[in-house]
Amino acid sequence: MGDLDGRVALVTGGARGLGAATAKALAAKGAKVLITDIRDGAETAAAIGGAYLKHDVTSESDWIAAVAHAKQSFGGLDVLVNNAGVFWVKPLMMETLEDFRRMQQINVEGVFLGLKHAMPAIAERAPLWDGGGAVINLSSVAGLVGAPNLIAYNASKGAVRLMTKSAALEYASMKVRVNSVHPGIIDTPMMAEAAQVIEGATGQGANAIRTQFAQRHPIGRMGRDIDVANAIAFLASDAAAFVTGSELVVDGGMTAI
Ligand SMILES: NC(=O)c1ccc[n+]([C@@H]2O[C@H](COP(=O)([O-])OP(=O)(O)OC[C@H]3O[C@@H](n4cnc5c(N)ncnc54)[C@H](O)[C@@H]3O)[C@@H](O)[C@H]2O)c1
Repeated sequence: MGDLDGRVALVTGGARGLGAATAKALAAKGAKVLITDIRDGAETAAAIGGAYLKHDVTSESDWIAAVAHAKQSFGGLDVLVNNAGVFWVKPLMMETLEDFRRMQQINVEGVFLGLKHAMPAIAERAPLWDGGGAVINLSSVAGLVGAPNLIAYNASKGAVRLMTKSAALEYASMKVRVNSVHPGIIDTPMMAEAAQVIEGATGQGANAIRTQFAQRHPIGRMGRDIDVANAIAFLASDAAAFVTGSELVVDGGMTAI
């Protein structure tokens, strides 16, 4: 018996990184998982007995198809993890309006469309579960505190933090809980790619950059994907039945300073 037996979960950006680790953690707790991504996630889905659908979170028609797919394949939807996102480091003077908008389109509008199109399906089955339905939105420590050269990312993750609270208040009476998760620097392909860019710009070696990433956390290491996946699995489960509109910080103490 798993904490999520009988639940159906949709994880966006689930082909790799935190999304793939989350899909695995939810499946291990008994959920049927639909992985969606613009990247191929068929292998990841097959490994956990789930399904994969190509889905761009910026496309409204893709969202409608994704929710329909969850209903057709698994009978409904109980958990949505709005995980898909992009990240880059760019000084304010280098950021273009086009790129700024592109990041908001994926990180913010993608979450908005997810809430809009998945909520009715989640609310429909919410009475079945003690903890109701659950939405978990990936924000970041960058949704809590500012950082230089992150103008677009700070904007996007700050928006996700408060969109979470708005949806949580609107859907509390319908038994759908909505929470945000705020990871520190987690060792995923996204961070490996960011490290490469920093390496190119500064000439520092990869090991030096990884050490600096690790040192940002009082716990003394970078986060692992499972650290975040475990937090998401908790928020998805009935163990979090009284948790909504909250911010779960998974940052090794980074923002406690
Ligand atoms: N890794 C970190 O340190 C960290 C820290 C805080 C927050 N986050 C957030 O966690 C989430 C996952 O990050 P990650 O590190 O696993 O990143 P990642 O780049 O390793 O994986 C992200 C996935 O999202 C997918 N994706 C990108 N654009 C998409 C789109 N338009 N539609 C559908 N899928 C799309 C990518 O194909 C990829 O598979 C992101 O929202 C990120 O901002 C990550």
